[in-house]
Amino acid sequence: MIQKNILREIAEIVGDEHLSLAPEELLSYSYDGTGQEFLPEAVAFPGSTAEISRIMALAAQKKFPVVVRGAGSGMTGGSLPLRGGLVLAMGRLNHIVEIDQANQVAVVEPGVINGHLQKALSPLGLFYPPDPASLNFCTLGGNIAECAGGPSAVKYGVTRDYVLGLEVVLPDGRIIETGCRTAKGVVGYDLTRLFVGSEGTLGIITRIILKLLPRPAAATTFLVCCRAIQPATGLVRLILEKLRPRTLEFMDNTAVSLVRDRLPFSLPPETGAVLLIEIDGSEISVRAQGVALGELLAEQDILELKRADNREDAKILWQARRAVSPASFDLRPDKLSEDVVVPRSRIPELVAFTEMLARKHNLPIFTFGHAGDGNIHVNIMLDKENGDEVEKAAEVREALFREVIRLSGTLSGEHGIGNTKLQFLPLELSPDTIEVMRQIKRLFDPHDILNPGKIFPELGRNQ
Ligand code: MLT
Ligand code: ZN
Repeated sequence: MIQKNILREIAEIVGDEHLSLAPEELLSYSYDGTGQEFLPEAVAFPGSTAEISRIMALAAQKKFPVVVRGAGSGMTGGSLPLRGGLVLAMGRLNHIVEIDQANQVAVVEPGVINGHLQKALSPLGLFYPPDPASLNFCTLGGNIAECAGGPSAVKYGVTRDYVLGLEVVLPDGRIIETGCRTAKGVVGYDLTRLFVGSEGTLGIITRIILKLLPRPAAATTFLVCCRAIQPATGLVRLILEKLRPRTLEFMDNTAVSLVRDRLPFSLPPETGAVLLIEIDGSEISVRAQGVALGELLAEQDILELKRADNREDAKILWQARRAVSPASFDLRPDKLSEDVVVPRSRIPELVAFTEMLARKHNLPIFTFGHAGDGNIHVNIMLDKENGDEVEKAAEVREALFREVIRLSGTLSGEHGIGNTKLQFLPLELSPDTIEVMRQIKRLFDPHDILNPGKIFPELGRNQ
């Protein structure tokens, strides 16, 4: 429990109006995209790096847990206060501090919404590529904590590829700066990369320097209706041998059936898989890529090809992909949503394996996602009120993770470990690797006060 006198000190730091103990407010900050709920004892809304630094110095001295929260859209519990304590809600730190057009760099605070940065950059002819599905409400601080990715990762990479430098408050209150704002920089260890994807366990990101790109002048979107997932994934390989599309998404047969009746356009009845391909670049380049893709597809046994040459029409085609997650609840009220990655050539094996699991356990399981980079969202649907389904889903999940490792894949491509996958860490990482990571955590946070219980559950318990 955080004692009353400590809460008074926190209120003095942030101002009374920026500390809340109201039950409804605590409830609002107790959940994320996983559906789990952990109540904090208090929520503070800091307004500056200096305030965060003072709070952490206090937390280190009095040893209460602190968990940082952006928009709460995380998929693995990264921002949940598992052991109570104080939630630091970063919503007030939501300023785009600077857009340096000449050097194609932006400096932002962590509470800036990803999509708001995109909107600010667009009229300047600039672009920040990482585009997680939640981009209209997730924060850049959260994106960095989880190293978010999205459909455009196949061409442009993920969050880590765009973070040049950070300002970070350490768990003892010290403030450090990592990286630089130049394109190159090799002075000392790459601490920026260490913080990116560290899931809020090593420090609190208070300022971010991002690399930007020139905005592509043109884009064309293709929706390819295939007979089945196997030929569709074969097509993925052929496309990537010739082209580097901005996105190369797929949906399996179940995903197609889920969205079919929700779309403003029709799909051929035999459609057993869909690919959504977007190419971008200069007008000339998009035209040339479009011709190359058209020639390649003409040689394949595809059912139908839909094409959008402007943003409005592309949005319509994208509805097929965007409708999948919400429509999934037609199958069951709950789901385990995974984000495993396998080498692209092994996608057919992984999809076949999930189909086998669905039959064996009699559970609805379907796949969709980022075929271009092998990042597959495996959705295990269940009713959490049904004990039998809960047990079966847990078995399926473990079997899936084992198979992913067997196929030389990785357990998470986008959503992180949080508190939902930590027991599976040893499937992928050796004891020595885990121990080195633990040592890093101890170095930054010897008392395990920052986001305790994430990635390494036993830290702080055995000390
Ligand atoms: C996506 O790509 O749509 C997300 O990462 C996964 C989801 O929202 O289920
Ligand atoms: Zn995704």
